[in-house]
Amino acid sequence: MRTVRGVPELRDALAPTRRSGLTIGLVPTMGALHQGHLSLIGMAREQCDVVVMSLFVNPAQFNERADLDAYPRDERRDAKLARENGADLLFIPAVEEVYPGGFATSVEVLGLTDKLEGAVRGAAHFRGVTTVVSKLLNMTMPDIAYFGQKDAQQVVVIRRMVTDLNLPVRIEVGTTVREPDGLAMSSRNVLLSPSERARAAALPAALNAASDRVGAGERSAREVLEAAHTAMARFGVTADYLELIDPETLEPVSTLERPALLAVAARVGTTRLIDNTILSPAVTTNQRPAVKSTRKASTRCSV
Ligand code: PAF
Repeated sequence: MRTVRGVPELRDALAPTRRSGLTIGLVPTMGALHQGHLSLIGMAREQCDVVVMSLFVNPAQFNERADLDAYPRDERRDAKLARENGADLLFIPAVEEVYPGGFATSVEVLGLTDKLEGAVRGAAHFRGVTTVVSKLLNMTMPDIAYFGQKDAQQVVVIRRMVTDLNLPVRIEVGTTVREPDGLAMSSRNVLLSPSERARAAALPAALNAASDRVGAGERSAREVLEAAHTAMARFGVTADYLELIDPETLEPVSTLERPALLAVAARVGTTRLIDNTILSPAVTTNQRPAVKSTRKASTRCSV
């Protein structure tokens, strides 16, 4: 695995791959890698000839300076994990490489970004995400880019951007990888103290309680959300938002007539966590979050 830090170096490294007609997969990350990221490398490894992973803690998408400062960073550990899990090229740009002096352009998806995370974190959050993702796509020019379902709204927003701007890339989404107690893997989990870590189980508990109610035949969003709030309250955790929404438009759903997205966010201590699941009226059994395997063997190409 090679590490590159500059855009010209990245393009030079990928030029022979592109000339040979081989496919490139990009896994954009902010580092602090966990099994969720590694499962995305696994997907890319299966579907593409060359796998690029980017590590860039994007200041533009943090709405709080303290959150940016606290964001876990360990380049050496990330490089080891990326190499061991099959990445071919690691792209680690400095802030000045991505946002050089005079930088004055942003990419913004309207509407979808006003809700949920956008409503809590402000418009700058998704503007930062879409700007950096469009830059990473332009820098790498991958055939496929990989994102995690844990950031469900981010996926919807990025798909909208790719469609609206005719970006020549396919978006693939990896299922959420969970800890044994159901907590979604997140780079932020390491920031939780042991007691906060125990309380963080409130989020999967909310999803499971809602799923159980739907499995038992409940179709009213109000009732389903009530069950989820009650489950969170048992852990002493209050949701920033807990919403049942259409998975594409992100508009609230009042009656569950087709699959809907249940999205939750909460602060546990000072750490903000998000999670989601699809609730389907067709499913009558409990659909509990399950840990997914992270990696399968596949062929390798050198860059
Ligand atoms: O999901 C993330 O880690 C980030 O939002 C992303 C897509 C890498 C953009 O900085």
